Amino acid sequence: MKKFVVVLAAGKGTRMKSQLYKVLHQVCGKTMVEHVVEAAQGIEPDKIVTVVGTGAEDVEKVLAGKSEFALQKKQLGTGDAVLTAEKELAGKDGATLVITGDTPLFTSETFKKLFDYHQTKGNAATVLTAQAPSPYGYGRIIRDDQDNVLRIVEQKDGSPEELKIKEINTGVFCFDNKLLFEALKHVNNQNAQGEYYLTDVLEILRNEGQRIGAYRMRDFSESIGVNDRVALAQASKIMQKRINEKHMCNGVTFIDPDTAYIDSDVKIGSDTVIEGNVVIKGKTEIGSNCLITSGSRIVDSTIGDHVTVTSSTIENSQMFENTDIGPNSHLRPNSIIKKGAHIGNFVEIKNSEIGENSKVGHLTYVGDATLGKDINVGCGTIFANYDGIKKDHINVGDRAFIGSGATLIAPVNISDHAFVAADSTITKDVNKYDMAIARGRQVNKPDYWHKLPLSKDENWE
Ligand code: UD1
Ligand code: CA
Repeated sequence: MKKFVVVLAAGKGTRMKSQLYKVLHQVCGKTMVEHVVEAAQGIEPDKIVTVVGTGAEDVEKVLAGKSEFALQKKQLGTGDAVLTAEKELAGKDGATLVITGDTPLFTSETFKKLFDYHQTKGNAATVLTAQAPSPYGYGRIIRDDQDNVLRIVEQKDGSPEELKIKEINTGVFCFDNKLLFEALKHVNNQNAQGEYYLTDVLEILRNEGQRIGAYRMRDFSESIGVNDRVALAQASKIMQKRINEKHMCNGVTFIDPDTAYIDSDVKIGSDTVIEGNVVIKGKTEIGSNCLITSGSRIVDSTIGDHVTVTSSTIENSQMFENTDIGPNSHLRPNSIIKKGAHIGNFVEIKNSEIGENSKVGHLTYVGDATLGKDINVGCGTIFANYDGIKKDHINVGDRAFIGSGATLIAPVNISDHAFVAADSTITKDVNKYDMAIARGRQVNKPDYWHKLPLSKDENWE
């Protein structure tokens, strides 16, 4: 049987009180609607149609290549939203999974179970339900004495008795595709919100003598619908737990999983240890046997095996195997730290390459530079790359030695085996095996103490 998916993502999301369109809010580094579509892809559907409206272009960009789109010009309700996919789907034989775009925690497994149940029962419509501890805001499932599903009542339309019911509509349905689009034509907007409710399709089909049912899922938390920032934080917390447990099952140690914030697509190798208060975002990949200590933030970066990151920030950068950084250092975008290199504390590196086994140990800024192998950069060195208008490049050759407190003014080239004396300001190229020293000579004035005013002060004698 053909399988279709409709994702509803056209609503404005007023309750988020945001400039950003609701389904584009992120849960663990990925938009809610991407989470939904990726879970839907897990059932290998023949077609996914996402209904877009406000901010359509932005949603289409995020889902490009993963979904087709139907445009709902006015947000008249979830029933109207599904109906906008008519052109893509109506009249086709098959089953259609409808999912609201603001339920980011659903897994493919749950969708598969719903599909199987729907087919086994031979239903025209099956709603996925859950038992909500506090069901406020959700549609409630109304059943008869024999436990048959009768209809769904929305929060704003329910009687006090109905609103006591804790079994809720998760917003996910499986329909016979043809019957769905026929029934949608009969949905009206005679309700508290003046909207065309998708939920009414159930009762319509039932009145036509079709078989409808409900599949109860055990874990309510998977069905959380995110309408406001409180639910967004709850959903993120649940997703965080799920992500961290996945990594733990793959052999990663978490010292305090409650405070390790790892985005959905991050990869981490086995025997790596993640301390508490760590943030790892975006497309980051971390190798095996690494240690990421508390206070670290790593974004869109690649970290090799056996790397130690101590309380440091790394953005869009690369650390090869057996390197280390920190505490309190910062790799800004486009920094490449080659095998065996050491970046110590209070170091900032930007758009630079640090060659194999080179050391940048303390209080140094390296910007727009290429450093070779086995270089030692002394404490407090500044790569002065900016003249106020443009950035220039600095090269430092293999085995060069840069003394503490040097200022290298770009553009400049320090050759292999060159030696830059401490506290030198280097404006000219330094050749191989040469030493450059550029600082005022020291002058010692004998017995000068006694000429100083402070020598008259008895406290200083
Ligand atoms: C909906 C259900 C409710 C269920 C809950 C589960 C209806 C009438 N109510 O309520 O029974 O318990 O989800 O989370 O279906 N949308 C459109 N076009 C529209 C209106 C909404 O695309 O015209 C999209 C929204 O972008 C959103 C989804 O549909 O992703 C659900 O809409 P929302 O307003 O959040 O519905 P709820 O009030 O949460
Ligand atoms: Ca919702």
